Amino acid sequence: MILEHLTDIVGTKNIITNKDDMAPFLEDWRGNYKGDATAILLPTNTQMVSSILKFADEHDLYIVPQGGNTGLVGGGIPDASGRMFVLSLSRMNAIRDISADNRSIVVESGCILQNIHEAAEAHDLYFPLNLAAKGSCSIGGNLSTNAGGINVLRYGNTRDLCLGIEVVLMGGKVMNLLTSLRKDNTGYDLKHLFIGAEGTLGIITAASLKLFPKPKARATAMAAIPDPQTGVALLSALKNATGDLVEAFELMPGDILKVIGKQFPNYPCPLQPVPEMALLFEIGSSDSDLATESEDGTVPIIEKLNAFLADEFETGRIIDAVVAQNETQRQAMWNIREHAPESTKRESWPVNTDISVAVSDIGRFYADASRRVKEIDPTVRICGYGHLGDGNIHFNVIEREGGDEGWAQKRGAIFDAIYEALYECNGSISAEHGIGAMKAEQLKLVKDPVALEAMHMVKTAFDPKGLLNPGKVLIS
Ligand code: FAD
Ligand code: LAC
Ligand code: ZN
Repeated sequence: MILEHLTDIVGTKNIITNKDDMAPFLEDWRGNYKGDATAILLPTNTQMVSSILKFADEHDLYIVPQGGNTGLVGGGIPDASGRMFVLSLSRMNAIRDISADNRSIVVESGCILQNIHEAAEAHDLYFPLNLAAKGSCSIGGNLSTNAGGINVLRYGNTRDLCLGIEVVLMGGKVMNLLTSLRKDNTGYDLKHLFIGAEGTLGIITAASLKLFPKPKARATAMAAIPDPQTGVALLSALKNATGDLVEAFELMPGDILKVIGKQFPNYPCPLQPVPEMALLFEIGSSDSDLATESEDGTVPIIEKLNAFLADEFETGRIIDAVVAQNETQRQAMWNIREHAPESTKRESWPVNTDISVAVSDIGRFYADASRRVKEIDPTVRICGYGHLGDGNIHFNVIEREGGDEGWAQKRGAIFDAIYEALYECNGSISAEHGIGAMKAEQLKLVKDPVALEAMHMVKTAFDPKGLLNPGKVLIS
């Protein structure tokens, strides 16, 4: 009777109950979580989502929202009981409206991030959220995880890019917060409760997002540096030297560059020999004059970057550098960066983390975590790469080249060592990926108890029976 009624709501084409067809919805990208479900529901409009949540409330059905299923903490995967329902937003993917004058776009939540990029570009505008999963992740998932990526230091997290949302609550009410207003102080800003809630408070069905002028000029470099703390000093220097044009500033240690080059021979490191520690950074401007080649063949924005590099060779803070001379070379550099997660997945069963510390503490954290990890096993490869400009490092560790039979036994101690170094710096266990199922136990230990109590109060207010995404973020 339950399945019949749900089929009535979504239509026979929009429900999957066959095990083989359900499989892609039941396992996460890293293969760490495998669940089961009674059915996958694929509504095509907000009214259907509302009817599902009304019916779920009446019949105590567990609902697990899912977007592109690229999440890295198991947040969109049901448990193994087979009693839950996955509610995939993937068929709600329309672009509803775009306003060049308001610099905003309204999209349905299943819209793939790359499609939003393309829609903005068609209007000579820019949506700056950028991550390697852009071809598969959805804006609803991005909002629900408050995703970060490589451009946060200039444009902010997904939270900062959102003007409004439409959200369906357990019980079926549709909350219309879908404003495109730039200023709106009419009481509590409720959208922020649902952004980063990982599908535990409601289902985001649509969003209004900020757009920006499209960068017309860009200069990108990879540079060898002595250590991560020097990277922090260089970030300040680059911001000062360019009048805040820094679009991205990523740390790329030699060990990750070597793994990427090994797993993806088409993406070799442009610096040879591969340095111990490197940065990949980009400056950008919407001023097209900065991209216009001068009579002497130079491009002003590239000259700006060259001047910075020349100064920093003098100081010794940069040891070696390569500047992309054209869009093909620029893309080649970013391809290297984008293949970091996939390459470690292929190379190993990595210790993956997503920590953040104050940008000023990067050097201290990196050195301390490396020391502690090397005390457990001096042969491991430390692939602590990522968003240095936001203090967010994926301090990932893999076993020595050629494999280590004892690796599975060492992983727990390595996680502990990294988190001990993190706690010394008062850092966060989740900078951008969220809590999901993976870090729900750890959250109980590290979150301020009063804040945790308040989070439970919010959860109870929106989902008193605990039917939305159970076992994620908050567990008792
Ligand atoms: P899903 O994985 O489907 O879901 C994620 C969470 O959101 C789940 O808890 C789910 O229940 C909930 N959810 C999904 N849609 C909705 C909705 N409409 N309403 C309510 N809840 C919903 N993340 C970063 O932050 N920065 C990175 O640089 C980055 N790089 C990545 C690179 C790769 C190769 C991969 C595989 C992942 C990367 N990620 C990164 C993680 C991931 O892409 C992001 O977390 C992304 O925001 C998830 O979007 P999704 O649509 O795939 O969400
Ligand atoms: C990255 C993902 C893992 O930055 O967040 O590559
Ligand atoms: Zn990241």
